[in-house]
Amino acid sequence: MSKDTYYVTTPIYYPSDKLHIGHAYTTVAADTIARYKKMQGYDTMFLTGSDEHGQKIERKAEAAGKDTKEYVDQIVTTFKELWKKLDIDYDYFIRTTEARHEKVVQAIFKELYDKGDIYKDKYEGWYCTPCEAFWTERQLEKKGGEKVCPDCHRPVEWVEEESYFFKMSKYADRLLQHIKEHPQFIEPESRRNEMINFIENGLDDLSVSRTTFDWGVPVPIDDGHVIYVWIDALSNYITAIGYKTDQENFEHYWPADLHLVGKDILRFHTVIWPIILMALELELPKQVFGHGWLLSETGKMSKSKGNVVDPVVLIEDFGRDAIRYYLLREVAFGTDGTYSTEALIQRINSDLANDLGNLLNRTVSMVEQYFDSVIPEVEEKEEIDKELINLAQNTKADVEVEMEELKYTAALEKIWNLVRRTNKYIDQTAPWILGRDENNKPRLKTVLYNLLESLRVTAVMLKPFLTDTPEKIGEQIAQLDGIQNAGWEDANWGGLKTGVKVTNGEPIFPRIDLEEYFAEIEARKEAEEGAEKSKEEDSEMDLVDIKDRITFEEFMNADIRVAEILEAEIIEGSDKLLKLQVDIGLEERQLVAGISQHFTAEDIIGKKILVVANLEPATIFGVKSEGMILAASNPAGKMVLSTVSDDIANGSQVK
Ligand code: MSP
Repeated sequence: MSKDTYYVTTPIYYPSDKLHIGHAYTTVAADTIARYKKMQGYDTMFLTGSDEHGQKIERKAEAAGKDTKEYVDQIVTTFKELWKKLDIDYDYFIRTTEARHEKVVQAIFKELYDKGDIYKDKYEGWYCTPCEAFWTERQLEKKGGEKVCPDCHRPVEWVEEESYFFKMSKYADRLLQHIKEHPQFIEPESRRNEMINFIENGLDDLSVSRTTFDWGVPVPIDDGHVIYVWIDALSNYITAIGYKTDQENFEHYWPADLHLVGKDILRFHTVIWPIILMALELELPKQVFGHGWLLSETGKMSKSKGNVVDPVVLIEDFGRDAIRYYLLREVAFGTDGTYSTEALIQRINSDLANDLGNLLNRTVSMVEQYFDSVIPEVEEKEEIDKELINLAQNTKADVEVEMEELKYTAALEKIWNLVRRTNKYIDQTAPWILGRDENNKPRLKTVLYNLLESLRVTAVMLKPFLTDTPEKIGEQIAQLDGIQNAGWEDANWGGLKTGVKVTNGEPIFPRIDLEEYFAEIEARKEAEEGAEKSKEEDSEMDLVDIKDRITFEEFMNADIRVAEILEAEIIEGSDKLLKLQVDIGLEERQLVAGISQHFTAEDIIGKKILVVANLEPATIFGVKSEGMILAASNPAGKMVLSTVSDDIANGSQVK
């Protein structure tokens, strides 16, 4: 039986665009703590999802000329693909457009209304559509004389409409008391103080319905209103685990142990959300952690600035473990940090390829060389071994302390301290010298055992952070099963299986040449710009005028057939001619076509194209041509072949 439950959530992301590295940052952090708790034997529930309602999304879909649901469906697919690529092992992906969620959100609204915590009035004030947030005059900032949102600094809109209000003010004192009595409720501490100040300044009642758009959950007691998107969104944390639909499961996991969010939405999670829960008479989550922002080198990531870092490209270029490692290692969780490809490559080369990769490679090679690949038993111990073993034991304990406080960076630093110490142990024990003398074999056995065991312990401790590497290490040091099935306690010293054979494999992290990589990025950019340009040229070019009309009969004189290209070769000496052998159904023919600057033989052999079969034969460049292939070209010099939309017999007539 597993011990306690552990319930962790990420924010549910807006499907208004593809996700970027900042979103991946929160989600990798949540995945890591979930994997860690699972390894410790907790009955873990890890929730992520998408926040699909609201005016912003409705407008985005409209701008894209798509039906709103179709639009979000398509983007949500890209979310799930990204999580798969990063090996995010969530237990449930909630979509706020799910019927079960919508029904329960309505029930929550109704319950609060029936209790008198929601009442109807008129809203007059400022609204920020990108943040879906209401602001008072006092809270706004000014930019170039224009009133802007204090969070995202974009213009706000004046809204006047009938609205339902949630009596936040009623719960302000209780909330303050809770925050003060439970210091771990808001982390990190600096942000807790910000929130306390915010609440102490007084809470206005919150407008919780809108009438100016429809893409939302309808207010159950009033047709013209939809429920404010943050009430809808925050409720996901309880609807997803069965609040009001599967009470047993809900009670099993609630209260959540951890809501992980970016600092931008901490206020929603530490003011609005706890008050909703108080009004529903539910327990509050144990902790809301507001981590810092991952900025781009040119500031906050935004599409308009063109500085958004796409995690998919990075995963393709460097592998997911390198990205996971970088995100967790580079920036102390809680503070802001800057993403840089240079720093990422630096981490890959120094920590992953050099420290860890080399340790594995050196160790496995020595077991091959000195013991015919078989993992030896411990025989002759020395003082220096104890130091390594103690460090390994302490590392496990230290990682536990750091993980309790979500200090991923510090936890990884501790693990790398062990990796580096183990590399040093090789230099200190000098196995290559021990290997020269048969009498030193007992000592050499112990040294290699310790190296392998340190690698095994490291691989077990890395399991929450990196998801492919531990197994790759396991394969090479012949401990795959043990590592795959390892719980956290298996990171204790002494679990190495002996008598089995190691296998030297590929380097687990190949080194990246920084300059070569940047040159490659430049080349990609140029290719993209080139493609963009040729698209533009395509659309801007002057098309050739339409020729004089012909009669139907005149057209019918041309015998156009479907033909399959069987062979193609360049005509020596010509710069654009290909000699083709084609099958036109009734017979095989030889044609000459001026297309070699656009297509190679490989491109076109096997293609079905259209040919004019009754053209006068001609000799071109000394080669006989019986017919002509049809192709389209534009003044910018682009050429495409005419083909058929589905398979059809060679020789079929085109009319
Ligand atoms: N839909 C709301 C959240 C509702 S939760 C009940 C929302 N969505 S969002 O798509 O804008 O995602 C916001 C979250 O993404 C942030 O809180 C943060 O966790 C993460 N990040 C987005 N950009 C980020 C960075 N540049 N850096 C770090 N995290 C960032 O707000």
